[in-house]
Amino acid sequence: MYENPRLILDSSNPPEADSVVWRSPSNLAIIKYWGKHGLQLPRNPSLSLTLAASCTDTSIEYEFKEAVQGSAVDLDFFFHEEENEAFKAKIQDFLNSLLPVFPFLAQLHLTVRTGNSFPHSAGIASSASGMSALALGLCSLEDRLFGTLQDPGDFDRKASYVARLGSGSACRSIFSHAAVWGETPLVPGSSDAFAVPVGERIHDLFKSMHDDILIVSTGEKSVSSRAGHALMDGNPYAEPRYAQARQRLGVLLGALETGDLETFGKIAEDEALTLHALMMCSNPSYMLMHPNSLAIIERVRAWRAETKHPVYFSLDAGPNIHLLYPEDIVTDVRKFIEDDLAEFCENGFVLNDWVGEGPEEM
Ligand code: DP6
Repeated sequence: MYENPRLILDSSNPPEADSVVWRSPSNLAIIKYWGKHGLQLPRNPSLSLTLAASCTDTSIEYEFKEAVQGSAVDLDFFFHEEENEAFKAKIQDFLNSLLPVFPFLAQLHLTVRTGNSFPHSAGIASSASGMSALALGLCSLEDRLFGTLQDPGDFDRKASYVARLGSGSACRSIFSHAAVWGETPLVPGSSDAFAVPVGERIHDLFKSMHDDILIVSTGEKSVSSRAGHALMDGNPYAEPRYAQARQRLGVLLGALETGDLETFGKIAEDEALTLHALMMCSNPSYMLMHPNSLAIIERVRAWRAETKHPVYFSLDAGPNIHLLYPEDIVTDVRKFIEDDLAEFCENGFVLNDWVGEGPEEM
């Protein structure tokens, strides 16, 4: 859809060497993307809140090179200032696969430097922030060299499309506050190919929502997201699950619009548990929750019943717990975490995050 053979640099008028830099955040899905087909296409629409503190900074330095040797992208790569062969191979493959979209990449020498705001030791996934930052940088590069993405809507859509090819969930990180990825009659303009912003439809309560991430374990996951998505293909609950996600999206959008925290929280928790239930009934079955994840969930439910405070949990494809709550109860929740939950976290580690404004060019 974005293949464009005309994006070729004129070697008689080469661009000056320069760089582009983007900071892009992670996101937390409330309606989960779990199951895909074709080239990174989702089985159901998903909705996420864009985070703020967990982000990736990526700079792309570029230099025109006279001869185009072969079709591979010429890349130097640094993660937190160090060479990292495993990451480099992944980025190299991704950039090579993007040559039909950005053919000029074969005419440049690129140096990509990337790093996360959160400690590497936090063990939290960075594919959403990392792939969105890279995609935004590539679109900036295109616009700078060809002036083809002047319209902000066009720019964001293409960045989201490219981010999706790197990692599905990354396509939702392009937008402030909240985004929907996947075609649905509930959101005009929505598409399986890129995410669209829905931040304007959500109540202010959700725009200042907190997401404190309780780091239960920093260990490597036993089953990757990629393998987890693949296991949905043989899962007997797959079809009803996709229908359920569509139905829940409608209810969630209503709650986000009216500021209905209780309905929002119920869906966030149900989706997190559904995701993990799907893992448990995959073949082979697997579990990513830890005993401490369950201990936290039980304490959160008990504390909510006792205090009536609207605090809810979510999980991604891992053991860490996200605590979602509105700004007005931050003092009470932080004390609760400190007193009752931190003991279940690895080294008491908690990452304080919140809903944010989306990526920025630096
Ligand atoms: C559980 O986006 O990491 O976080 O497309 O294979 O890179 P790939 O998968 P990924 O899957 C994320 C799944 C999830 C739910 C979500 O973010 O919607």
